[in-house]
Amino acid sequence: MRVLGIESSCDETAAAVVEDVAGRKKLLSNVIASSLDLHAQYGGIVPEVAARSHIESIIPVINQALTDASCTWEDIDAIAVTKGAGLGGSLLIGVLAARTLAIRHRKPLYGVNHVEGHLYANFLTESAIEGYTMPEVEPQFPVLGLIVSGGHSQLVLFEDHFNYTLLGQTQDDAIGEAFDKVGKLLGLPYPGGISVEKAAINGMARYELPISRMTRISPALADIRQQYLTRRHASEADRKKASSVSYDFSFSGIKTAVLRLAQHEAGKDFTFPSFQIAGLLDDQQKADISASFVRTALETVVSKTVKAYEEFSPNTVIVGGGVASSPPLRRLLAERLPVEITYADRKLCTDNGAMIATLGCYKHLSGVQPDDPYELDINPNLSM
Ligand code: KG4
Ligand code: ZN
Repeated sequence: MRVLGIESSCDETAAAVVEDVAGRKKLLSNVIASSLDLHAQYGGIVPEVAARSHIESIIPVINQALTDASCTWEDIDAIAVTKGAGLGGSLLIGVLAARTLAIRHRKPLYGVNHVEGHLYANFLTESAIEGYTMPEVEPQFPVLGLIVSGGHSQLVLFEDHFNYTLLGQTQDDAIGEAFDKVGKLLGLPYPGGISVEKAAINGMARYELPISRMTRISPALADIRQQYLTRRHASEADRKKASSVSYDFSFSGIKTAVLRLAQHEAGKDFTFPSFQIAGLLDDQQKADISASFVRTALETVVSKTVKAYEEFSPNTVIVGGGVASSPPLRRLLAERLPVEITYADRKLCTDNGAMIATLGCYKHLSGVQPDDPYELDINPNLSM
């Protein structure tokens, strides 16, 4: 059984073919055309430029994915496409292409959630393409999932496929977005994730930055958590303790704190324009600010992941999204969690079609009702 996955939610036009072989998921092809270079000069994604690039790339990328997988349309059993969350104009191109192809080739069509897809990169255990390092075993339920990308920061507890509880999420910016903004402020190349980390290697984390303390939890979520713990036979003391922890994140405060710190280091006050600061800082100051930011931003997500691990005792912890490829994040999680985490290949952490195809495989095999190819709509704000 083979599924073609199509992804176009942000600046990557991507398509991949994933095959189910006796329950294991095997990557047959993975093609990504990125418009990142076009956005780099602006220090962030320009939605109109991204949408135009998708129009140019989508058909060649899909054709290449089929060719690389040595497949014709006859060999494809279903199509999965990202319907949200993402940029409206970008999503539209992928969804319209998938709808048209599903109608033309009479294939079942599944509109999938991009954020959920990031976690499903971890369910791919084999590759027919060279140069990919795959985890040998598939995650075992219950699974605790941490999603850390440019658009999302979430902690999710899966009891099974398609049966999950969103434990917490960012209330403002995502962690990747904070990396990108700090990179821009310090005049480092876009995207900031990699360049801030690189700068941090030569820096000392000598500045204290604030860690957000989110405390409010909805009664509905508290109730779901209690039910889960009861099903898992947790002690009454553990159940009581559990309901007091919030798994939400916030990254807008640390962004502002880094701006104020940089202004101060540049010898200016808070009215000084952010785009002129980088020119007043030397490399050592930039490295120290980067190191301080990386330490605090990663601590924010790692400490909540450790808490969730302690509360829910999952069998597996998985991490998805662009920031999952961060070596310091991986080191910190390895130090603080008593379980070993196996990661998807770095090429499968950032946006790709393989994660969408993998999720599509599970939907198709579980008998989930396909979407109507004449009706499937995008949902830029789709949540988990
Ligand atoms: O998952 P992704 O490709 O796109 C979204 O769905 O948002 O994630 C992109 C984000 C960017 O913010 C980028 O700066 C960040 O992932 N990123 C990293 C690293 N590689 C990419 N952040 C920290 N360390 C990295 N090595
Ligand atoms: Zn993504």
